[in-house]
Amino acid sequence: MKCTAKAHTNIALIKYWGKRNESIILPTNSSLSLTLDGFYTTTTVDFREELSKDEFFLNDQLVSGEQYNRVTTFLDLIRTYAGKKLYATIHSINEVPTAAGFASSASGFAALAAAGANAIGLQLTDRELSMLTRQGSGSACRSIYGGFAEWEMGMKDDGSDSFAVPIAPADYWDVRVAAVVLSSTMKKVSSREGMKRTVETSPFYTGWIDSIPNDLKQIKEGIAARDFEKVGQIAEANCLKMHATTLGANPPFTYWHDTTLAVMQTVQSLRDNGIPAYFTIDAGPNVKVLYLPENENDIQKTLRGIPGVTDVILSRSGQGVTYL
Ligand code: PMV
Repeated sequence: MKCTAKAHTNIALIKYWGKRNESIILPTNSSLSLTLDGFYTTTTVDFREELSKDEFFLNDQLVSGEQYNRVTTFLDLIRTYAGKKLYATIHSINEVPTAAGFASSASGFAALAAAGANAIGLQLTDRELSMLTRQGSGSACRSIYGGFAEWEMGMKDDGSDSFAVPIAPADYWDVRVAAVVLSSTMKKVSSREGMKRTVETSPFYTGWIDSIPNDLKQIKEGIAARDFEKVGQIAEANCLKMHATTLGANPPFTYWHDTTLAVMQTVQSLRDNGIPAYFTIDAGPNVKVLYLPENENDIQKTLRGIPGVTDVILSRSGQGVTYL
């Protein structure tokens, strides 16, 4: 009753921003992402009769508190589905540099769901695995698939139609992402709190929701045509709209720092100089830059030259969940 699974993180090009059900994590909008090969989690789940509770090790350190509770609550779900009251030892190795500002919860919950479900003997389809993963961390449900994936929000109250579907596999198109790491850190509003506050208080939130169907339609056309400029423009504009909702919230907030803006402006000036590059930003100050392989050297050099940037980590399109 032991299984090891590996999952990569993903970056949303059309953001998930808002929940309609917080307990089983149902979103207020559909989203679309690119899975990244550079950032991943490998997790082993070992269910054993002799254990009287779960034990969770992250990068070989025993974990307790909030992080432990999230993992064990998620395993409760797996135990309920399997109808088995067995506890497990969980070992996770995170290859997601926390400084890169990626939510390691995406790769973490995708790997945990895959390894846990498999170890306890559940035979899930990818779709069922995505639905299970969604209940651990929303954005993680897209990491079941490699390349481009869409999380369909669904309409039902029970979540049975809210899961990710593959749009194009990792080898379909060599689009790359530079994760730009900034030196300054600021007290962060979690994605959970940020979503809740904007849904409940931002007058811009309805504008965000109204704009999603067209953004999704356009970006999928762009992916189908391998039209980098179209995909980049829509992703960048969608990110700006998401961040605009936070400025309208009460109390208002932003995830951006001065260096965040400097990176955004540099990306726009790269374009003015004929180098196609587009940015996107999640619930934090760091910026991810989309680019094509032929521009890798220019992109890397330019981004590294921005004062306040401490690192630039390059990544390609990554695979979906695999079992080791
Ligand atoms: O799934 P969470 O709670 O990590 O929220 C993710 C929210 C964003 O990263 C901002 C957008 C997204 O779709 O990944």
